[in-house]
Amino acid sequence: MSSPGDQGVCFVGTREAVVQAGRVVRRVHGRDVLVLHHQGALYALDLHCYHSGGPLQEGDIEEFGGRLCIVCPWHKYKITLAEGEGLYQAVNPLVKPLRPVWCSKGVKQRVHQVTEVNGDIFIRLDDSAGAVESDHYQTEEYRAKLVQP
Ligand code: FES
Repeated sequence: MSSPGDQGVCFVGTREAVVQAGRVVRRVHGRDVLVLHHQGALYALDLHCYHSGGPLQEGDIEEFGGRLCIVCPWHKYKITLAEGEGLYQAVNPLVKPLRPVWCSKGVKQRVHQVTEVNGDIFIRLDDSAGAVESDHYQTEEYRAKLVQP
């Protein structure tokens, strides 16, 4: 169910169904999107990890540096749920004792807007200009590779 004239908006399900499922995968206008519910909040982001296309629907959710992230099951990259930023740990060698801190690589995973209308959940695709690394894995060419042995 999409609103006429609003090509980037797609019905995901009732709030009850999405909360019960926890994670829902949808293809929205040719884009694979993961919608997930965690601690009362809903998030939507590109399904395939920006690093190498890993299946984020199988990732654990953990907090790093006070930010909720999904951890890709393939190589354990951390991606913030709300912004799609890639996080990494760094130390300043000039500051002793050495203490790792979480830093951002910037937005790597495209995130999408989730809205609720009368108990129904919709997502609006982010169509902002400029490439985001996760865009690379939203092609038919990549999907064809996924199903090959
Ligand atoms: Fe996700 Fe490598 S594919 S961390």
